Amino acid sequence: MKSILIIDDDSLIRKTLSSHLSKQGFEVQTAEDGESGLKKFAEMGPDLVILDIRLPDTDGLDVLRQMKDQANRASVLIMTAYDDMKTTVEAIKLGAFEYLVKPLDYMALDLTVEKAFQVKALEEKVSYLIEEKQKEYTIDNIIGHSPQMREVFKLIGSVANTRTNILIQGESGTGKELVAKAIHYNSPYRDEPFIVINCSAISDTLLESELFGHVKGAFTDAVCETKGKFEIAGKGTLFLDEIGDISPNLQSKLLRVIETRDFMKVGGEKILKTEARIIAATNQNLRTLIENGKFREDLYYRFKVVEICLPSLRERKEDIPELVGYLLEKINRDLRKNVRKVPPDVMKALTELSWKGNVRELENALTRAVILAKGDVILMENLPLEAEERKLFSRELVSLDEIEKEYIQYVLAAVKGSKTRASQVLKISRPTLDKKIKDYNLEI
Ligand SMILES: Nc1ncnc2c1ncn2[C@@H]1O[C@H](COP(=O)(O)OP(=O)(O)OP(=O)(O)O)[C@@H](O)[C@H]1O
Ligand SMILES: [Mg+2]
Repeated sequence: MKSILIIDDDSLIRKTLSSHLSKQGFEVQTAEDGESGLKKFAEMGPDLVILDIRLPDTDGLDVLRQMKDQANRASVLIMTAYDDMKTTVEAIKLGAFEYLVKPLDYMALDLTVEKAFQVKALEEKVSYLIEEKQKEYTIDNIIGHSPQMREVFKLIGSVANTRTNILIQGESGTGKELVAKAIHYNSPYRDEPFIVINCSAISDTLLESELFGHVKGAFTDAVCETKGKFEIAGKGTLFLDEIGDISPNLQSKLLRVIETRDFMKVGGEKILKTEARIIAATNQNLRTLIENGKFREDLYYRFKVVEICLPSLRERKEDIPELVGYLLEKINRDLRKNVRKVPPDVMKALTELSWKGNVRELENALTRAVILAKGDVILMENLPLEAEERKLFSRELVSLDEIEKEYIQYVLAAVKGSKTRASQVLKISRPTLDKKIKDYNLEI
């Protein structure tokens, strides 16, 4: 049941208001002055307070200020007189949700109370979501103990509290965005926006207007003025993904923003300031792009004040078992499944594969295996392996003959059916090979 505290020195108002609100199913308590009001506020922790701003013992604004200082995030509606607009404005500035003018119009009161509860529910939801997001991007969710990853963690730790620009390099799927978010959500500006812009996904003109905004009439489709991401990001983070793909024109505009912190909307004349931190990412080699005249060297140096290079999964195979465990937990949670067992031969295969798409590819392969699993075990047959890889990683208990048969078949396929080559590789005579082919009924 939602609770409401009424603070007013007028006993008639206390009585009528409390009976009106109780009838609507609220738990109502009342207080006649500031001191007892604050005491009740602390005791009952109401969801909503209806406060008369003129109280006999204390200044209503002071009561409001003290309530706003406490952990309880109750909404406060204030009651004022018509001639008291100055205090009303002051109260709204202090965080009162709304004001009600005396004598009270009960219909307006009901609507305001309802709105206050709706807004409070929304606020609670938003702060819950922000908290969840912050939890999702704690450093604990970046998996790896390899020396390369330890280096990455060290860098994240040392840049999180600074405002420097950062360049993150790494192959596709190595976790560039994950690291950028970890830096943002571990910084003092974690409550400010984290904005992603994929620089390769949109045309040059659109990208410019996305970044800087535009004024009305700047180009044919510019029907109204818009804010760019540099403005929307506030003191937060602008994550410029695929930075290697931006045009020379935009490269020089970006250089200017980074150097001076100011920019103009497309078609605009007013100079605006940005306070956002820029994290740029690329899976291309910027040095090569510079050598080929595709990327400005001065811009590169502006970005790489701090450079984080993410290793490919091939370079940190020792992290794979831990990653598999972590990703399986995540996948099972998302899909509401319970496929957590990984037999040793399957784990060996997962560790040995080349994973060109890095962690993202590993995650996709595990997701598929979890979906296809019949029981609670990840099966070799559900991994996206080539037939030969599967044989190589399989550790079924079979006879020597079985292995010999399979291996001869494997070699014959590898030498494209040349029996002479196969007998050389196997170091057996041609007649012996012929006999085995016949006995095992092998296909060539
Ligand atoms: N070290 C890691 N620990 C846990 N999960 C990871 C790690 N690295 C990457 N991932 C996961 O892999 C997926 C891909 O990561 P992300 O999108 O950050 O990669 P990327 O480098 O930005 O890739 P691309 O270049 O393709 O955009 C995400 O689901 C991410 O959570
Ligand atoms: Mg990415």
